[in-house]
Amino acid sequence: MCGIAGYIGKKEAQNFLLDALKRLEYRGYDSAGVAVLSDDAILKCIKSVGKICVLEEKLNSNNLSGKSGIAHTRWATHGFPSEKNAHPHGDCKEEIFVVHNGIIENYKKLKEDLEKSGHKFCSETDTEVISHLIESHFKGNLEEAVLNSLVHIKGAYAIAVIAKYDPAKIVVAKKSSPLIIGIGVGENFIASDASAVIGYTDQIVYLEDDELGIITADDYHIISTISNNCVQREHCKIKQDASEIQKEGYEHFIFKEIFEGPEVVKNSFRGRIVDGEGLVKLGGLDVLNQDQIRNINRIIIIACGTANYAGRVGEYMLEEYAGIPVEVEIASEFRYRKPIIDAQTVVIAISQSGETADTLASVQEAKRKGALVLGIVNTVGSTIARETHAGVYNHAGPEISVASTKAFISQIVVLSLLTVYLGRTRDMSFVIGKRITDEIKKLPDLMTRVLKSSNEVEKLAKKYSNYRNFFFLGRKYNYPIACEGALKLKEVASLIHAEGYAGGEMKHGPIAMIDKNFPCFFIAPSDSVYEKMWSNIEEVKARDGKVIAIATEGNEDIKSLADDVIYIPKTLEMLTPLLTAIPLHLFAAYVGIELGLDIDKPRNLAKSVTVE
Ligand code: AGP
Repeated sequence: MCGIAGYIGKKEAQNFLLDALKRLEYRGYDSAGVAVLSDDAILKCIKSVGKICVLEEKLNSNNLSGKSGIAHTRWATHGFPSEKNAHPHGDCKEEIFVVHNGIIENYKKLKEDLEKSGHKFCSETDTEVISHLIESHFKGNLEEAVLNSLVHIKGAYAIAVIAKYDPAKIVVAKKSSPLIIGIGVGENFIASDASAVIGYTDQIVYLEDDELGIITADDYHIISTISNNCVQREHCKIKQDASEIQKEGYEHFIFKEIFEGPEVVKNSFRGRIVDGEGLVKLGGLDVLNQDQIRNINRIIIIACGTANYAGRVGEYMLEEYAGIPVEVEIASEFRYRKPIIDAQTVVIAISQSGETADTLASVQEAKRKGALVLGIVNTVGSTIARETHAGVYNHAGPEISVASTKAFISQIVVLSLLTVYLGRTRDMSFVIGKRITDEIKKLPDLMTRVLKSSNEVEKLAKKYSNYRNFFFLGRKYNYPIACEGALKLKEVASLIHAEGYAGGEMKHGPIAMIDKNFPCFFIAPSDSVYEKMWSNIEEVKARDGKVIAIATEGNEDIKSLADDVIYIPKTLEMLTPLLTAIPLHLFAAYVGIELGLDIDKPRNLAKSVTVE
């Protein structure tokens, strides 16, 4: 998720552009840049790595004069954060500049074709293909060139384009990524969301998918990129609270990020499933050859906290469907052990931030011992991403809330893709591979159905927010989810103690705690261990314990046993964690609200633990 902005009018563009980038920094903050067209048609671009303040310092000593311009703050998806990978991206002659939020799925093919026709690229990004495509179609009319370029592009985009030889306009286009036009007097604004234009105008127009806009200082036109017809669009009056807009109407980032889940799953598997073949493409692992994959004799997954629980879901997947022995280690333990590693051992580090000190130290230790070290990281170009030999990015977008939710979902999706990727090179059949990839593609809709039960979860949170102790119980794929549910409740509703256990462990001690003041979440989808979970629920009920069950739609029997039931749709057993995690994340957030806590920034915690 990146932030884009544009200005055209009677004032110096740079002032609005910088201000807009600061408002949009929550959308991505690893590099930034602006391109401004001066009154004498000089088109200049300045970029920087790091936060917006670094760019601001640069601009203070290299002021860009001009009344139209575009700007970008980046959350890298392709290409490490660097000045050359920062947007705006220019064409060969730097007479056209583009800023982009989204992912161009077919950029590699487009780049090959453009290079064959003589275009010179200077970045590793997918976005740069847009600048060169427009250049190849430019005959003096910018919107025409953009229209003729978009037909070649597959993927998601919100773009803004300026050109030296068709000045006095900015051309924008939208597909799957957000874009608004701010309507001023003698000036107009463009941004990824309305938070960027607050204080400049309260009138905006939302662009819809497959629409292109031509913006001048005094006017704007919207056309459909499909029919080329003009589109009339109502102006909307916006709220004047930037932080509320950044949360896109949600009270807190954690809710926004939980409800982003279906979109995050799409972005995590976008361009990675080979339709109809039951195969997965993971470009970041192309360094691995098939013999190496077949010779893997053990995988060690290292991570901390929520990422560790995602790894533990992956352990079951990789053992059951890729036939590889797996162990999951808490990174702060692994780094001080004497792990037995050989050249056939693959170590996988999972980290949302890519900066967790214990995980980084474990990566370095594993490399010292000769393991092939892979990363599953959300923050492109982060330290762990750079330290590992290869890896897979989550594409989950920035996760602002301290409690990890959408990144956790993405980590499990990537692990399921990795299971097919490795399995199909070993003994996984076409049928199994296709069954898994077909089901992964259904997940966004299945998750949307679970999210529709958020009101029931909110009622449960009100009902149980006065209890001070909880157990979370699950088996097999959902044992790690029990641990994650307990951690999320401890983290977000930090006055409550909770523990996650394997369902079968209750009788080995914890059940001594059960009475009517000790509610238990049972994660009990209709899977291979459901009967065992039923027995565990009976054990708790026999001791007057309260039971909240997460069960599969259609299972009416469980209502006779549980005090409360939250339902999830049926899916493959290995993918149930992606559905059972949602009610637990929501429960923790709603309980935190009930307790009047700052659920995006729980006490004592930091988003990234960069110290030991
Ligand atoms: C999760 O909600 C916590 N914020 C924490 O456990 C986190 O998962 C852990 O610190 C690992 O962070 P990382 O994924 O950035 O490495």
